[in-house]
Amino acid sequence: MAVFEFLHISDLHFAQEPGRINLFAQPRSAVKQLVASRTLRPKSADTLSVRFRDMDSHSISRTEACARWLHRNRAADRLVIITGDLATSGLREDLEAAYRILTQSGSVSVPYLSQRGEPTFAFRPDKCFLMPGNHDRFSDRHGAPGGTNFDKIFSGFCNLQNGVCAASVAKQGETLHFVAVDFSLRNFEKITYELQHYGVGAIAGDTLRALVDQTEKCVSEAAGPVVWLLHFPPGMHQEDSQSEFSIFEREFMQLIDERVLLDSAERSRISIVLSGHIHRSIRLKIGELNVVGAGSPTIADPYTQGEAHLMRIEVAKGKMTTWSRLDFVHSPDDAEFVQR
Ligand SMILES: [Fe+2]
Repeated sequence: MAVFEFLHISDLHFAQEPGRINLFAQPRSAVKQLVASRTLRPKSADTLSVRFRDMDSHSISRTEACARWLHRNRAADRLVIITGDLATSGLREDLEAAYRILTQSGSVSVPYLSQRGEPTFAFRPDKCFLMPGNHDRFSDRHGAPGGTNFDKIFSGFCNLQNGVCAASVAKQGETLHFVAVDFSLRNFEKITYELQHYGVGAIAGDTLRALVDQTEKCVSEAAGPVVWLLHFPPGMHQEDSQSEFSIFEREFMQLIDERVLLDSAERSRISIVLSGHIHRSIRLKIGELNVVGAGSPTIADPYTQGEAHLMRIEVAKGKMTTWSRLDFVHSPDDAEFVQR
């Protein structure tokens, strides 16, 4: 039997400019259009535009608190998993800012601050496994999909092949596999509402096949449970779990065609999926599948509580026996993450 521990964070939304609003494209008029066309029926047009305005980039104080939390909780055998949206856009300047905050060396006296006094996570590729989210794939300031800068800038941390990348950890004769899969939009093909392209993902058949193939390959190399890493939590439209999500999330943040993914997860005997995207933590059970989503530790949005997580997965005879999670939340009074 072996107990694997790792830290799970998501949706850092780092940007060249902290506290930036991401949506530059006349949100109020577009939102009014949607409401007028009855595509959306929010309580008021203002409720929805407030949601749009909340999509900020990172806060420096939360980033520093998160850097300290990571420093304190990073034991030698704990990997850090990041389930996407490292940057607030896929533009080179934002991804490079994210890369700098994630990888800069810490100073000798204060390891979570760089020589210049900026917060840094000081990650090395062997200690951190990460993947892109929809924001990392934005190819312009209006959230158009299909950006590819992420692949070049983060190639040392995540080398996606057909949208899939794997990492394995071995301990006391057991192995735990992670397979990350990128279902960010490649184009506007599946978009049915104005502005929907900002927040949705969609299953692409070739990427799903690559995910299933990689899962089989991992298990054939070393028996052990496979954890899927998906930026977009599946399950928003399933009977068991849809009440956990708002109408906004189900329309504008969904994984389109999620049922196909859930069926594949069942066939591949996946029992746990880690996700992010909605900036608050979730725990869902869909059939036998656990969907475990991380909140965002660093986003500046005042309506989002900063969250970070310590996960434990117990493995015996090549199977996951139990899992548990400790949640940490940002306490503005202490400027620290404290256990919930
Ligand atoms: Fe996202």
